[in-house]
Amino acid sequence: MGFDTNEDLARARSWIQAADAIAVLTGAGISAESGVPTFRDADGLWRNFRFEDLATPEAFERDPKLVWDWYNFRRERIATAQPNRGHKALVALETRKSEFTLITQNVDGLHELAGSKNILKLHGDIWLVRCTKCAAEWVDRRPSLPEIPPHCLCGGLARPGVVWFGEPLPKRVIDEATQAVKSSQLLIAVGTSAIVYPAAGLIPIAKAQGRTVIEINPDETPCSDMADCSLHGPAGEILPLLVT
Ligand code: OAD
Repeated sequence: MGFDTNEDLARARSWIQAADAIAVLTGAGISAESGVPTFRDADGLWRNFRFEDLATPEAFERDPKLVWDWYNFRRERIATAQPNRGHKALVALETRKSEFTLITQNVDGLHELAGSKNILKLHGDIWLVRCTKCAAEWVDRRPSLPEIPPHCLCGGLARPGVVWFGEPLPKRVIDEATQAVKSSQLLIAVGTSAIVYPAAGLIPIAKAQGRTVIEINPDETPCSDMADCSLHGPAGEILPLLVT
C-alpha cells in the first residue's frame, strides 16, 4: 500500500475512535472490489461510449434504447455483486457511533445489502424506474429489463431513477448530507474521484467547518491535498484495518 502504513493508519484509527459523530462519503471505488466497474477507471468504457455521453437527459432524449442498454448492462453486473469488506466495515462502524451518516454517490444498493442503515443516496438508485410523463416511481429488480425502453401504465416513457449530468440532486438529500457533514467531527471520503459536484463539494465544506478529513483511495485525487490523512490503497483492505 502506498501510504506511510503504520503512522497514518494509527492516526486515522485514533481519530475514528475518538469521534462520536462521523459522516462518510462513498463513490464507485468502494464497490470496485465487488466487481462493479467504476466510471473513470480503465474498465469504465461500454461499447466505446464514455459514460458522460450516456448519463445525460440529452442522451436519453436522443436514444432511450441505447441508454437503457447501458443500464441493463450495469444492472446485470450489479445484480450478481456482493458487498465487500469495505462495505461491511462501514456497517460495523455505524453500530459503534451515536451519529453516523453514510452519504453515497453509488446507485448500486450494496451499502443497504451489507446492512448500513442511515444512508443518503445523492445520485438515486439503479433499481428505481421513473415515468417521464406522470413521475410515478417503482422498483424493478430484474437484472435486465426484457423490454426497453420500458413504459409506465400511463403510457409514458420510463427512465432509470438516477441523477444524470446536468440534473439537480434531490434537495432534501443534499441538504441533509450537508447538515450531516457540518455536524460530524470527521468525514471519511472513500473511493471517489472527488470531481463531481455537488457531492465533491462536501469535502471543502467539512474543511471549512474545521472538521477532520480522511481519504481512502489507491490514487491521488483533488481530495488528497485537503485531507488530513490520505490512505492510498483499496477500501476493502484499509477500512477493516481502521475499524477493528
Ligand atoms: P469515479 O469512477 O469517478 O472514481 C472512482 C474512484 O475510486 C477513483 O478515484 C479510483 O481511484 C477509486 N478506486 C478504484 N478502486 C478502488 C478501491 N478498490 N478502493 C477505493 N477506491 C478505489 O467514481 P465516483 O467518484 O463515484 O454520477 O464518480 C462520481 C459520479 O460520477 C458518479 O456517482 C456518477 C458519475 O457520473 C452520476 O451518475 C450522476
